[in-house]
Amino acid sequence: MKAIKIAPSVLAADFARLGDQVKEAEAGGADMLHVDVMDGHFVPPVNLGLLIVEAINRTTKLFLDVHLMVERPDHLLRPFVESGADSVTVHYEATDHIHRLVYDIRKLGARAGAGINPGTPASMLDELLEDIDLALVMTVNPGWGGQPFIESCLSKVKRIRSRAAETNPSLDIEVDGGVNGSNIPSCVAAGANVLVAGMSVFGADGSIGAAISGLRSAASGGSR
Ligand code: DX5
Ligand code: ZN
Repeated sequence: MKAIKIAPSVLAADFARLGDQVKEAEAGGADMLHVDVMDGHFVPPVNLGLLIVEAINRTTKLFLDVHLMVERPDHLLRPFVESGADSVTVHYEATDHIHRLVYDIRKLGARAGAGINPGTPASMLDELLEDIDLALVMTVNPGWGGQPFIESCLSKVKRIRSRAAETNPSLDIEVDGGVNGSNIPSCVAAGANVLVAGMSVFGADGSIGAAISGLRSAASGGSR
């Protein structure tokens, strides 16, 4: 089984204390940071952009997993990689040219991800599985943190993991949206290994580090 990676989503952080929260996540054992970028078109909200990625990159050594929820992301790939993105994920629904874009991302020296919304069949990624480093399966409709997890999306994780077993066994499969200690065991059982967590890390009752440890322990079948 692939190594589990816990990816706190900074969308749920306290932006008045972003630097401290990022450092806490790093010290608390996060494997990477997930950074959501929304353009007001692909999804209604407008939020994080290049300046935030650049600022986070100055604050931490953690791998930055940038999730572009933007229409026609073509012109944004280079700026995000130059601002510090280590991985860039584009949505299948946001472009007619996802095959070209994942190649463009790799040419820029970053890892390439392709994402699908809850209403998009997993088969839309079939022709891409050999060409990407990460498949992102949204487990909420994108746009907002703190929404309830959509369990039925896990069948898509299963399908992608089983197809990738032949064509790209090192593929990372990321689940994003509503992930918490209760549903993590089923995410991992379905074949996900990158677990994005916004509210269940930055909105947890205890410390950020305790939340990350709790999620990791849930992922390995321990206490939740
Ligand atoms: C939703 C974003 C998610 C979000 C997850 O559109 O892509 O990354 O931050 O937040 P939680 O874990 O709170 O659902
Ligand atoms: Zn995201």
